[in-house]
Amino acid sequence: MDPILLREVLAQWASGVVVVATVTDAGRRHGMTASSFSAVALDPPLISVCLTTTSTTHRLIERSEIFTVSILSHEHEPIGRRFAGGKPAAVDHFGPERWDAAKTGAPVLADAAGWLDCRVAARHEAGDHTIVLGEVLAAGVPRRTAPLIYHARAFRELRDAARGTVP
Ligand SMILES: Cc1cc2nc3c(=O)[nH]c(=O)nc-3n(C[C@H](O)[C@H](O)[C@H](O)COP(=O)(O)O)c2cc1C
Repeated sequence: MDPILLREVLAQWASGVVVVATVTDAGRRHGMTASSFSAVALDPPLISVCLTTTSTTHRLIERSEIFTVSILSHEHEPIGRRFAGGKPAAVDHFGPERWDAAKTGAPVLADAAGWLDCRVAARHEAGDHTIVLGEVLAAGVPRRTAPLIYHARAFRELRDAARGTVP
């Protein structure tokens, strides 16, 4: 498979954008932008994310076994960029927004379009990524708002949102 073509095809897939975050025993928060979030099952409640094995977030979740998913709204593009910035792992990406500690202790964005608090239920090695299955322990919809979209390597908004028909 030609890797350039593969990337080109995958870029045609539109998705929402989330921040996957965790906290260490020492209380250090860390997170990253992800578009590989997926709903998996309702009973039991399971979701998945695919994390590149070289990411700091992957390494920290391996140890903590807990993570949160904050679904970004259309106003959260700066957050999506900041958490994908490739800054040194020691840099705190959390910025000026309010982040609350969920039940597991991992941070959730207070004004996210939605959030999930998870315990790692299973891990599946998948090449240079790991599919992390999360059992949902708690969840919330802080406010109803139009989502941030990622398509063709760019952050976008739903056209319906501009028409005022979303949510
Ligand atoms: C819109 C967008 C979606 C992304 N989705 C994923 C993803 O699903 N999985 C992944 O491993 N990296 C994804 N990335 C890349 C990570 O955010 C990036 O590698 C990040 O710097 C990792 O941070 P860390 O090493 O501090 O954990 C995405 C980047 C962007 C901009």
